[in-house]
Amino acid sequence: MKLYLPLVLAASLTLAACGGGEQAAAPAAAPATEPVPVVSAPAHDHASMASAPVVAASGETAAAPAVAEGCSINVAANDSMQYDVKDIVVPKSCTEFTINLKHTGSMAKAAMGHNIVIAAEADVNGINADGAAAGAAGDFIKAGDERVIAASKMIGGGEEASVTFPVSKLAAGTNYKFFCTFPGHVAIMNGNISVEK
Ligand code: CO
Repeated sequence: MKLYLPLVLAASLTLAACGGGEQAAAPAAAPATEPVPVVSAPAHDHASMASAPVVAASGETAAAPAVAEGCSINVAANDSMQYDVKDIVVPKSCTEFTINLKHTGSMAKAAMGHNIVIAAEADVNGINADGAAAGAAGDFIKAGDERVIAASKMIGGGEEASVTFPVSKLAAGTNYKFFCTFPGHVAIMNGNISVEK
């Protein structure tokens, strides 16, 4: 993890730098023959490619995300308002599941706070609206909000928080979201979580 996280951050920063035009000294246009950089390799495609080489998926743009290894997962969040995980599939063999959140940035909780909240997709906007009203004192979650399936505390740069919940709270075959309720963060800081089918 200590080796992996800096690599992810470095990749993110590199992408951001490219988009921000900070490499202005480089030639403006790359030759058309240059290979296109592969941003994300579909590593989880191997199984389906081996078992079904002929049939191409029509209409499906993404392969199923990998099931988490074990009954916990580490998620990093940074000063650029990003989680390093977009999809979490909880193994169906787990009775409880734990998400360990680490804020790898340096900004204070008041400016760049992050948490992880789990809820049905239909409840995300309502939870965020009521969370904003609850304010920083309430960790941006309405007290006693029954739509919240699980939530970590809000943390700042360098801090960690964990949340554990019964897997039975997630209905099999239903997609849920994990997200940050700090005001303005949900648009970028969200991902999918579900139980393995
Ligand atoms: Co956040």
